[in-house]
Amino acid sequence: MIKNISLMVMIVMGGVSFANASGDSAYTLKKHEWPHDGPFGMFDKAALQRGLQVYKEVCSGCHSLDMVAFRELTALGYSTDEVKAFAGEYEFAAGLDDDGEEKFRKGLPQDYFPAPFASEEEARDSNNGALPPDFSLLGKSREHLSMFTPWNSIYGEDYIVGILTTYHEEAPHGVELAEGMYFNETFVGNQIAMAAPLFEDSVEYADGTSASVEQMAKDVATFMYWAAEPKMEARKKMGLKVIIFMSILTIMLYFVNKSVWKNVKNGKEFD
Ligand code: HEC
Repeated sequence: MIKNISLMVMIVMGGVSFANASGDSAYTLKKHEWPHDGPFGMFDKAALQRGLQVYKEVCSGCHSLDMVAFRELTALGYSTDEVKAFAGEYEFAAGLDDDGEEKFRKGLPQDYFPAPFASEEEARDSNNGALPPDFSLLGKSREHLSMFTPWNSIYGEDYIVGILTTYHEEAPHGVELAEGMYFNETFVGNQIAMAAPLFEDSVEYADGTSASVEQMAKDVATFMYWAAEPKMEARKKMGLKVIIFMSILTIMLYFVNKSVWKNVKNGKEFD
């Protein structure tokens, strides 16, 4: 019985960790290979750093990143000094000085990314009534979740890449776009209030990678996924430990079970 239970646990664990559920989406999305996919996949740190650069130079004009503090950027492979320097490029309000003038101070590692707009109202006013969603959760919000995909992102990053790479300069024949809307193949209803944010060479990558729209889209999608789930790597490492532990436990239980019942079986008590 014990053996059976532990075997069942093994089978369920194995099923959960290796299943690659192919859930379907309302739109035709291209599935990309992501280094962080799968139960043991880890982030590509160079891609994360490039994604941060795209966020900082392009997206942060409209999208906030409320839940990420600068100090967390060490997870992208930066040293604490680099993080300090990065934070120092931002300015934060620091009350009033003796003359009643507003004071500013440099950002510190413990500060959070500042929001581009002071309020939701201001954000909507600048974006034709639409609200640019906060990036902290967006990386995962369009994910296709199922009980078999605890370690797998199915559509989060692919959806973001889709949004960023399927704009049409003009709406197809017969499609009437509302005022201030843009045609996007991936967005539900195909009309989005965000103008295409990326163009060839929108950024000049610090690591020299050539900045095609697709490249920037993938990098920023990786960054957004990390921002939505900074603990993913730790969780996967823990998952691996649990699997190893369960495997050892199963083997031990198998032998314990065998030796406990050995005498009974030899005595043919159950015949
Ligand atoms: C000029 C402002 C602006 C910039 C710059 C901008 N966005 Fe947006 N974004 C918006 C607005 C507004 C929306 C909401 C669109 C809507 O609801 O129709 C949005 C929505 C989105 C969405 C969500 C789509 C959905 O399913 O709701 C994603 C993903 C996105 N932006 C990614 C990005 C990325 C990545 C960048 C940087 C490369 C970026 N945006 C730059 C204004 C902007």
